[in-house]
Amino acid sequence: MAEQSRYYARVRGMHYLDALGQLHELLNPRTYLEIGTQTGMSLQEARCASIAVDPQFMLRTDIMMRKSSCLLYQMTSDEFFAEFDPAKLLGRPLDLAFLDGMHLFEYLLRDFYNAEKYCTEESIIVLHDCLPPEHAMTARDMKDPIRETALHPDWWTGDVWKIIPILREYRPSLSITITDATPTGLVFITGLSPKSNILPRHYNEIISRYSMLEERSALDAYWSTVDVTPIEVFVSTSHEKAFGRSRASSAKNNNWWKVWG
Ligand SMILES: C[S@@+](CC[C@H](N)C(=O)[O-])C[C@H]1O[C@@H](n2cnc3c(N)ncnc32)[C@H](O)[C@@H]1O
Repeated sequence: MAEQSRYYARVRGMHYLDALGQLHELLNPRTYLEIGTQTGMSLQEARCASIAVDPQFMLRTDIMMRKSSCLLYQMTSDEFFAEFDPAKLLGRPLDLAFLDGMHLFEYLLRDFYNAEKYCTEESIIVLHDCLPPEHAMTARDMKDPIRETALHPDWWTGDVWKIIPILREYRPSLSITITDATPTGLVFITGLSPKSNILPRHYNEIISRYSMLEERSALDAYWSTVDVTPIEVFVSTSHEKAFGRSRASSAKNNNWWKVWG
């Protein structure tokens, strides 16, 4: 138990839905793409023109709230990106994307590079579940009996945490902030390069290399390298600190990065 709680102690910030809600309010993005919606809790937090993609929506909440429009695509993200251009659907590039679909790293990798294509250098991509506090929840197979040994057997992050070392290795110019939003972290990625084809070009190599990292020691090694930012600090700090942007540059970029504080 002592070993298990070691990482739980590092993931105890604000709940990720509260953090997403505050970020929508403070950053005021004009467009939002969500991969993986399920009951609609995270989609509910968006206030702007939105697209949500999920092969099996199970909506239980008012997803419209203050949105002017909300397009739902009931299909896998791969099918969506093969057929649709989200920037065309929304009439402008993505300001904010939240990737929370299939919890396997190769899916998240594809979701990342497919979403990035429709972003600008000023956009933000947010990832969920990349700070798993326990090895048992990272099993690739949702039905793996190891999950029953976890403190929270109902939490399943899969192995999407691998996207962080992958991006650090293959896309070192990205700015990656890993925060302690409960229960399993929120990661904010800026400094995007919509034209980059590095990840799709190296896709097969990445998959074969990172598929091998299944052991507990790989997750321990990951935890030993992560610098965890408190989500409260991240949310309440002005965006130029959080994202390395200046107020002048936010004004130049149609002011979508509304300043808070
Ligand atoms: C963890 S839930 C999303 C939760 C939601 N974002 C929230 O925070 O309230 C993951 C969702 O991903 C969806 N999903 C599974 N495979 C997918 C795929 N290939 N493409 C897109 N979504 C997928 C599932 O149907 C499920 O609804």
